[in-house]
Amino acid sequence: MKKNIVLIGFMGTGKSEVGKELAKMLGYKFIDTDELIEKREGIPVSEIFDKYGETYFRKIESEIIKDVSVMENVVISTGGGAVIRSENRMNLKRNSITICLTASPEVIYERTKDYDNRPLLKTDDTYMRIKELLKEREPYYSEADIKIDTTQLEAQKVVETIMKEMRT
Ligand code: S3P
Repeated sequence: MKKNIVLIGFMGTGKSEVGKELAKMLGYKFIDTDELIEKREGIPVSEIFDKYGETYFRKIESEIIKDVSVMENVVISTGGGAVIRSENRMNLKRNSITICLTASPEVIYERTKDYDNRPLLKTDDTYMRIKELLKEREPYYSEADIKIDTTQLEAQKVVETIMKEMRT
């Protein structure tokens, strides 16, 4: 059975854009877990947080991750917090090469600051929040098979780097 590709990493590291491009190159189907959550709930992620809270969102996220982890020949882009729960980490590793996209907190701040679709970054000091969350999640992100720093790379270059890494 061929392995899937799972993209993990913080908000603003380019998982969705890179994932779409990678899927095209490999002839795999592209799956975005946040999109599936929104489809299932019928409202955007930020509204799910507002109306039902983070715990509810995490529960749906885990169910979706469980479902997609048994698929084949797919590139799966996950939400930045998908790695927090151990059951997700286990399901995501099941049949996949895991790739973590990283970026400096400064660049993450720049890439996310003009969008209000990320409930966890809606705070007075977004930059500090990014640094705190990065620190909290670092142990989980570092479990990935491949790590790519996207701080200075455009999506196309990230895809090329991933393709190269997978060949070696
Ligand atoms: C989250 C990241 C978001 C989304 C939700 C929570 C997180 O996805 O799942 O807002 O906890 O880091 P992206 O990483 O695609 O922005």
